[in-house]
Amino acid sequence: MRVLGIETSCDETAIAVVEDGRAVLSNTIASQVHLHERFGGVVPEVASRAHLENFNPLLELSLKEAGMTLGEIDGVAVTVGPGLVGALLVGIAAGKSLALALDLPFIGVNHLEGHIFANVLESGPIEEPYVAFLVSGGHTMLVHVPQAHAYEILGQTLDDAAGEAFDKVARFLGLGFPGGPALDELARKGDPNAVRFPRAVTQRRFDFSLSGLKTAVVRHVKAERATGRETPVQDLAASFQEAVVEVQVEKTISAAREMGVHTVALGGGVVANSRLRRLLAERAASEGLRLLVPSPELCTDNGAMIACAGHFRLMRGERTLLDVGASPGLALN
Ligand code: KG4
Ligand code: ZN
Repeated sequence: MRVLGIETSCDETAIAVVEDGRAVLSNTIASQVHLHERFGGVVPEVASRAHLENFNPLLELSLKEAGMTLGEIDGVAVTVGPGLVGALLVGIAAGKSLALALDLPFIGVNHLEGHIFANVLESGPIEEPYVAFLVSGGHTMLVHVPQAHAYEILGQTLDDAAGEAFDKVARFLGLGFPGGPALDELARKGDPNAVRFPRAVTQRRFDFSLSGLKTAVVRHVKAERATGRETPVQDLAASFQEAVVEVQVEKTISAAREMGVHTVALGGGVVANSRLRRLLAERAASEGLRLLVPSPELCTDNGAMIACAGHFRLMRGERTLLDVGASPGLALN
């Protein structure tokens, strides 16, 4: 079965064709980063308009790369949430139209489930039970998956998502937008022990909080400036990154231990972070855990992960009615 996957929940218009939930025949993305750069963040109205403009040319490109026509598609999978309502609606309307016109099965996909399924594209179906750690621009979440498509949220962020914190601190340090990748790059040259930034303690042990850390970075820099001293920016980047990653790794490993699972699957744009990948790989190995990590291009938003998650739901006989709308706050359950 060849599934067309459509993803427009934030600032990437992404369309892919995936065969049998595994073979990525095409995975095309029209990034809007340049449009939002000057605003220092994603502007919802700008994103919706760009999705609309990008959609048809991108669909053509995706089919061309897959070497097929629309007539050879067997199903349509579209992100229905969570995300920006106007952005989601563009992909949903397009997906519904295609399904209706071509008389194809249609499935609405939760973006977060898509991030988990990015692993399936590279490693095949994930054996349950497992723990998934989702870290993106909009989410930081630890999830227990006792059986296929069943999700128990163990904890999540109480304030900023990890990617959001990376972007805000990067912006403060003058690294541009989105700042996560730039901060990661710079941190490689820095000393992670230069400044001991706080590691937040949360009431529920698998929740996360990053607003205090973010404020600590700003306070540190301002206090130093006042005294004429200055920690090199690469050391600030490395120290901030270390504080974020250390907590994430400890909580993920503890969650896996507490749930008694043998597999941990990662997903979301922040999984592209080199320090997180390395530290988690080390800790998982010493704990005897199997760690699934998508390649960086499948960590960030893409259509293939949506096609993949949609494929497995379609195979279970699930269908989404064509009157479905966008769910900006869609929960994973
Ligand atoms: O999953 P994603 O593409 O979009 C959302 O669903 O949010 O994640 C984007 C986020 C951005 O905040 C970006 O700065 C962050 O992922 N990111 C990184 C890295 N690459 C992307 N954060 C830290 N280190 C990276 N290497
Ligand atoms: Zn995402």
